[in-house]
Formats: sequence, structure tokens, C-alpha cells
Amino acid sequence: MLKGKHIILGITGSIAAYKAAYIIRALVKKGAEVQVVITPAGKEFITPITLSALSSKPVISEFFSNRDGSWNSHVDLGLWADAMLVAPATASTIGKMANGIADNMLITTYLSCKAPVFVAPAMDLDMFAHPSTQQNLDRLRSFGNHIIEPAEGELASHLVGKGRMEEPDKIITVLEEFFASQTVLEKKKIVITAGPTYEKIDPVRFIGNYSSGKMGFALAEACAAQGAEVTLIAGPVSLATVHPNIRRIDVESADEMYEAAMAAYPQADAGILCAAVADYRPEVQADEKIKRESKGDITLHLVPNKDIAASLGAIKRKGQVLVGFALETNNEATNAESKLKRKNLDFIVLNSLRDAGAGFRCDTNKISIIDNKGESTGYPLKSKQGVATDIVNKLATLLK
Ligand code: PMT
Repeated sequence: MLKGKHIILGITGSIAAYKAAYIIRALVKKGAEVQVVITPAGKEFITPITLSALSSKPVISEFFSNRDGSWNSHVDLGLWADAMLVAPATASTIGKMANGIADNMLITTYLSCKAPVFVAPAMDLDMFAHPSTQQNLDRLRSFGNHIIEPAEGELASHLVGKGRMEEPDKIITVLEEFFASQTVLEKKKIVITAGPTYEKIDPVRFIGNYSSGKMGFALAEACAAQGAEVTLIAGPVSLATVHPNIRRIDVESADEMYEAAMAAYPQADAGILCAAVADYRPEVQADEKIKRESKGDITLHLVPNKDIAASLGAIKRKGQVLVGFALETNNEATNAESKLKRKNLDFIVLNSLRDAGAGFRCDTNKISIIDNKGESTGYPLKSKQGVATDIVNKLATLLK
């Protein structure tokens, strides 16, 4: 659940700050990336060196990263995060969060954070019970923040009550349960095509294209990470899949991809057609290697392949979703809209080879999503993983 998640860990000035080290270690062990943001008071309780060693990232504390004027962007950090966890959270920090008192990097990050925020209070029981603290916590709840209630227990030999920060393993469980409930494609069956197809000319030659499969594989991982059971029909690529819920079918030609897709789609909730399928294949495939003719030119006669997207669009039943891609070099939007209609798609993902960093082979892509209601949304250049998340989010709205 926490694998690949970006977590901002806010640490404040409490004796429980040492427990943040255990939290980082557990998050990292579960595959999360952790960025520590610590208040000045927090540094009195635990050293940034310990925290950066555990998180493998420099700890952020000041607005300016060093004396050359370069600054830490709380806005970028807020966008990077899948979740922000403030643990331990003192009464003072809770008060500042509740009232927008942005006098340190942790609070500015909190105010910029688009991701869900979790707060694990840590203080003495009288401070915790005080109406002022309780009111501030209520305010945080009203903002949609998640309060991880402190543990009940012995605070000092003569005192029993609430206030002690919840144990790190319990805090991790809260995060895990939260992400588990976020699985927007839970149990949905998704068929994805990816990569190029090779159309055989003879035993040593083929017609192919530059698709690496990166975009389609990123989609498969993103869907699986959201709880989907994925059937990934992959053309010839040199990529591996990671998530156990991806069933991979390797094919070579457009015909093989067509057969696999037609067999899988009827049981699926959605199909995403990301493969760069060859539109034509040689009419004749030579059994033996074609020899160089001394006479000069040879002619290959090409015949059209089946259009997988259009074929699935024709058998799409009510409630099923079909998503296509359009790879264009000119008249992008017009061509994409025409493919959207012709292939009976619910939405189409347009990428253009005119955009730097978009399309084949690179690790990034720049897309627009055009849906069958005529709505078009443009996205900035992102990693193919980021693009896949945007596509999955759009898909999830249609599969509810
Ligand atoms: O693999 P990468 O290197 O990461 O590159 C990603 C990508 C550029 C291949 C990907 O982002 C992309 O744009 N894929 C679609 C490429 C393509 O063939 O587009 P098209 O406009 O020619 O086809 C339109 C749609 O019909 C596509 O969904 C395509 O999969 C589908 N199609 C096309 C022909 C055919 N015979 N059958 C199909 O299903």
C-alpha cells in the first residue's frame, strides 16, 4: 500500500520526536519515499543528520536551502506528496495549523499541501485536554485532516491519560488503511495493450515502430496499484512488470494482439489501447530469408491489419469503458476527435510528436484527454508514471 508513495513527514518539538526515526524507517522499508520537514524546535529533540540518513534525503527546515538565496519550495513539496504526516505534532504546531500561522517551513508546506494530512498529537495530558487544543483539533478535523488520536497510557508514574503520541506501527497502519481505501479501481478488470507490433517480412526482418512500451507499462502498474486486475497485452519490448496483479500476454504481430484483446475484453470493465499497432503488414511473409536481388528494387505489398480499437469499440457493452490513444504529428485535435468517434471510445489520450519530451521511448509524455462529451483537458509534461495516474483518475470517474 505504501510502495512508491511520497510522504512528507513533519516533525515538531516534542520528546516524541525520536519516534519519527522509527516512522521513517518503517515507511522506507515499505517502499515509501519520505521527505522530512522539521520545525526549529524539532531540531532540539532529534538531529537532521539522523533523519536524513534514514530517509536518504536532505531534511528541510528553513525557507532558504543555503546562503546563496536558493529556496525550498513548499508549493512543489505540497504537490509532490501523496500524504503529509505531522508526527509528533505539538499543541503549538496544531494551533498554527488550525489558524494558518505560517511562520515556519512545516506550516507553509501544510498550507500548500494538496494531499491528505494526518496529525499525530504528542503532549502532556493537561495540554491535550485543554479546550484550546481540542478546539484546534476540531478545526483541523473540519478541514478534512485526519487526527491520529494519542494513545491512552501512563504519562508519568502518577498520571494516566491521553496525550502520548500513538506508537509508530499504529501510525503506519493508519496510513496503510487510508491508502487501501483509496484503491479507486478495486477489483476492476482492465485490459491494456502496450508496445509496438512487428509485422514479419521474412524470418529476419519486420516492419515495426519506435514504441518502447513505457507508457503502456506505466499504465498497467498504475491500474494495478489502484487495485485493478490487469491483463497487459505487450508487443515486443524489453520491459518487466512489477505488480503481482498484472497478467502479461506477450505477442508479436497486430494479428496476435487483436486475438488476445478480443478474447480478454468481453470479461473486462475497461480497455486502454496504448499500443502502437502497425496499420499494415506484408501480404506475403517469406519462409526463407529474402536474398538481395542483383536486379535492384524489390516491392513489398502491404495489406491493412485489423483495427483493434475499432473492433473492441464495436463489441463494447453498456457499462464497459474503452480508452484509446492518438499519436499525431499534425492537426492533432481534429485527428484525435475523429479517432474517438470512429472507434467508439469513451476518451482518447492525445500525444503529439511535435511536443518535446512526448511520445515514443522517452520517460516523459505530454497529453490532452478528449472525452466523448467534447471536453478536452491539457496536462503539462510529466513522467509517464504521472501521466498514467492522470489517465487512471479519469478512468476511475467512469467506472464508479
Ligand atoms: O511505448 P512508448 O515508447 O512509451 O510510447 C508511447 C506511445 C507513443 C506509443 C503511446 O503514448 C501512444 O500514443 N500509443 C498509440 C500509438 C498509435 O498507434 O496511435 P494511433 O493514433 O495510430 O492509433 C489510435 C488508436 O488506435 C490507439 O489507441 C491504437 O492503439 C489503436 N489502434 C491503432 C491501429 C490498429 N490497427 N489497432 C489499434 O488498436
